[in-house]
Amino acid sequence: MIRFLYNQELVELTNFAADLTVLDWLRLHRNKTGTKEGCGSGDCGACTVVTVSLVGNDKETKPQLSYQSINSCISFVGALHGKQLLSVENLEKDNALHPVQTAMIEEHGSQCGFCTPGFVMSLYALYQQNEPEEQLLNRVDQALGGNLCRCTGYRPIKAAARVALKHRQSTEAQREDCEKLVRKLQSLAVETTQTSDRFVQPQSIAELASYYKQHPDSRLLAGGTDLALEVTQQMKTLPHMVHVGHVPEMRIKQVHADHLILGAAVTLSECLEIMSESIPAARDMLLRFGSDQVRNCATIGGNLGSASPIGDLPPLLLALDATLTLQCGATTRLVLVQDFYISYRKTCMQPGEFIRSVKIPLPKPDSVFAVHKISKRTEDDISSVCLAIHLPQHVGLTTHARLAFGGVAATPVRALNAENSLNGRAFDEQAVREAQEQLSDELQPISDARASAAYRSQITQNLLRRVEMEFSDGNTNDDT
Ligand SMILES: Cc1cc2nc3c(=O)[nH]c(=O)nc-3n(C[C@H](O)[C@H](O)[C@H](O)COP(=O)(O)OP(=O)(O)OC[C@H]3O[C@@H](n4cnc5c(N)ncnc54)[C@H](O)[C@@H]3O)c2cc1C
Ligand code: FES
Ligand code: FES
Repeated sequence: MIRFLYNQELVELTNFAADLTVLDWLRLHRNKTGTKEGCGSGDCGACTVVTVSLVGNDKETKPQLSYQSINSCISFVGALHGKQLLSVENLEKDNALHPVQTAMIEEHGSQCGFCTPGFVMSLYALYQQNEPEEQLLNRVDQALGGNLCRCTGYRPIKAAARVALKHRQSTEAQREDCEKLVRKLQSLAVETTQTSDRFVQPQSIAELASYYKQHPDSRLLAGGTDLALEVTQQMKTLPHMVHVGHVPEMRIKQVHADHLILGAAVTLSECLEIMSESIPAARDMLLRFGSDQVRNCATIGGNLGSASPIGDLPPLLLALDATLTLQCGATTRLVLVQDFYISYRKTCMQPGEFIRSVKIPLPKPDSVFAVHKISKRTEDDISSVCLAIHLPQHVGLTTHARLAFGGVAATPVRALNAENSLNGRAFDEQAVREAQEQLSDELQPISDARASAAYRSQITQNLLRRVEMEFSDGNTNDDT
């Protein structure tokens, strides 16, 4: 059985289809049609809802509520276990609209209204963040990056965001409501592994490993932002899923002086928070990974496990010589990200094996390190090309150069010849010219809807030059 709150109502589900989306549950099972379906693929935000979960719910820390916007069209209902789900119908209180809704009306933030419930929920998630007003005002564009509007235009919607955020209040009654919700969510967090014969949510690494080894044909579900597209776009049925999100070992977040260890079920939003501190040069790329709705669900393990040649984390991890811990049953093994990808959408994982965690060495302050994502749109778009470059320096000369790309081959790749040509010399214009020649020989990108082969080839070379120009003034990873 899974248990969650829909607004204040306790919902207990036993016999549900593993691939039932939150959107279909709301609209078809509960007749709550305020949440709209636009694209069914996570791209438009019309289906945005908010989940509330407990964080820091252990003996030492006081539990906090975490409000997150998610795309309900690509979220599975089984993943709601232990959380509160809020849809646009739930924002009114005592017959009064929420301040976000009032601001949308007063600032004329809606015309046809199809996108409006999604915008309202994204703004509500922002409104509920426990951060100072100034910080939230700076995050309006980020919060709306996953919502498309085709008729109103963004100016009035952003004006509504500012008005609502400026009138945020924290009353005693609200604080009491929060405490009540914390207690309700704590009472939901009963450990339950076998929810139905179709949806299993292991509570420990041993349970996960043993179950998946015995049922290697079931599908691992992390954030579902890739997996759900098989259901909503390819119309597949996914009859049997194993959800990895409740396994504490898969959620570890260790920050050490010279490396990070992150569990495979750590989300991209969490990565953004951790890496903004420890790998600041990766921040801009991570901010352009999907949208808030996508990053709140998408995980490291899902990004690597889908083995997409255009995934954005692999170039970063390749450039930093990251190592994966893979597990099958009780056996673990270490595999360099470099050796993980075998061919198009194929990895070295055996049946029943999964990614448990990743160890990411941090770039040294004096090394050249940069990540660049090129895509058609700034927000919520997949890379045409992604480059991560890491050039450790010793007395002004490059050692162990790493040039890692996404979007230029059947798998994420390193450009080994170009790397060699950069080693043992200063990273200057001449070195870049020679490396560019190597790049044009060794990378043979293809043309597709995102970019032509010629464009991709040109971009790989231009990005290298761009990094050299950025660092030529003595700029180092210290001040990127
Ligand atoms: C609108 C939208 C925008 C997106 N933007 C980007 C983007 O900018 N950059 C980008 O790189 N990607 C993007 N994606 C793709 C996707 O969000 C990412 O690949 C994400 O990291 C997948 O993680 P997940 O947890 O949602 O994976 P899931 O969908 O849960 O799983 C994906 C695959 O990995 C497998 N898997 C999951 N966990 C593990 C594990 N621990 N071990 C082994 N296999 C595992 C699953 O079985 C499945 O086959 C986007 C997707 C959408 C819908
Ligand atoms: S319907 Fe478009 S993101 Fe869900
Ligand atoms: S108001 Fe019509 S799409 Fe936004």
